Amino acid sequence: MSEGIITMAYLAASILFILALGGLSNQETARRGNYYGMTGMAIALLATMIGIVTANYLLMFACIGIGGLIGLILAKKVEMTQMPELVAILHSLVGLAAVIVGFGTFLDHSVAFTGVEQSIHSVEIYLGILIGALTFSGSVMAYLKLSAKISGKPLLLPGRHFLNLILLVAALYYLLAFISAAAAGAGLTELTIMTVIALLFGIHMVLAIGGADMPVVVSMLNSYSGWAAAATGFMLSNDLLIVIGALVGSSGAILSYIMCRAMNRKFLSVIAGGFGTPKSTGGGTSASAGNQADVQAIDAESVANMLLASKKVMILPGYGMAVAQAQHSVFEMSRKLREAGVDVGFGIHPVAGRMPGHMNVLLAEARVPYDIVFEMDEINADFPDVDVSIVIGANDIVNPAAQEVPDSPIAGMPVLEPWLGKTTIVLKRSMASGYAGVDNPLFYKENTRMLFGDAKASIDDVLKNL
Ligand code: TAP
Repeated sequence: MSEGIITMAYLAASILFILALGGLSNQETARRGNYYGMTGMAIALLATMIGIVTANYLLMFACIGIGGLIGLILAKKVEMTQMPELVAILHSLVGLAAVIVGFGTFLDHSVAFTGVEQSIHSVEIYLGILIGALTFSGSVMAYLKLSAKISGKPLLLPGRHFLNLILLVAALYYLLAFISAAAAGAGLTELTIMTVIALLFGIHMVLAIGGADMPVVVSMLNSYSGWAAAATGFMLSNDLLIVIGALVGSSGAILSYIMCRAMNRKFLSVIAGGFGTPKSTGGGTSASAGNQADVQAIDAESVANMLLASKKVMILPGYGMAVAQAQHSVFEMSRKLREAGVDVGFGIHPVAGRMPGHMNVLLAEARVPYDIVFEMDEINADFPDVDVSIVIGANDIVNPAAQEVPDSPIAGMPVLEPWLGKTTIVLKRSMASGYAGVDNPLFYKENTRMLFGDAKASIDDVLKNL
């Protein structure tokens, strides 16, 4: 295949990947975005297989066949709630590939470099392996934590920041040592020592991070896997890998930043680890935010009557809706209410649930129309006009303590404000706190009613009464 055709194919694939990212930013266009991505990847693979690979076809097709089959089985088997751990383990493969390509490139003496070119080539190899190794070990640890194969508690070694600093200084030292050794035709020892350092760094970094911050870590490792792919692109002089790597690297970094902002966490303090320990969550987290006598329970029949008597209803789903798999019943309830002439909307907090877009995916699965699903910023101003807000298995994302209690661990986190409406109905099983472990003053407010029970069972009960 001529070089011109390969370049054209790579250009088309790059454009399709950019369109894919654009499509994924909105749920109405997400499906289209996925198709762009798949087409781009098919073009990229074909152009590489036909145009760039010149030997070892049998090995290549065997590997693609095995890898593709494993991917297919995993994708078919995975539950929605296991998505973060699947993503984590897939990132580890990108990291591992960067390490293997790095060592392969280093040991391949068919292309000889001299002078500055040689140094640049050495830096490419070194950085590719460094980022790849820490992505690999960090992602494996993230997978083990998320799948509860090891404890989710942060491991806080004494002097851990100092330990990280030593590992960083050692990595820099071996970079310089490797560049001069590689110029003299050696360097394998330096490269191997650095790989071990990077593997240890990845393990330590992720082990120090508490369960609360794990989704940010997965998104950060996603970003690292992108930079590892970009570094591999430099090693192999493959423009498409550089472009895709940079797209994945920067979009992962932006997503990590958005998640940190929505959880009111600083990116650097996420990386430094330790969140979720008694010291870092501040005082009084488990303290009650109100008087138990103020909690007003309600039954499903009264909820149904209240909803039917409303003009405007806002549904606020959270993690409990995912646990209860209540999305289909919730859709059914919204459909019945709309048929009865009630104006129904859904309000989605950016970190509702346990992964970005968690609620949007569930609502889309239940075929809730996109035009009645609103982002938090779009609907917060509307709450004074809402007759009934119905909170389904959500807690932290509707916690007024974020605004009212300055020393609360979630102080400053933007939240949905249903208490500004006429009545709030909260569906949950108990008075237990949510992810951040903070009690919620909303449950004790005068205009709040609690419908206790599993969210799906409760909604089904309400449905019967509608
Ligand atoms: P949470 O604050 O975790 O509250 C969920 C509530 O659902 C719990 O209080 C629980 O109360 C209830 N629940 C659980 N199972 C239920 C069931 N079967 N039926 C009814 N209720 C049930 O969730 P949220 O409000 O969605 O907030 C998300 C939290 O996760 C935030 O703190 C956020 O920072 C954090 N987080 C989110 C992300 C992303 S990207 N989404 C990433 C990391 C962390 P009961 O036990 O009493 O039922």
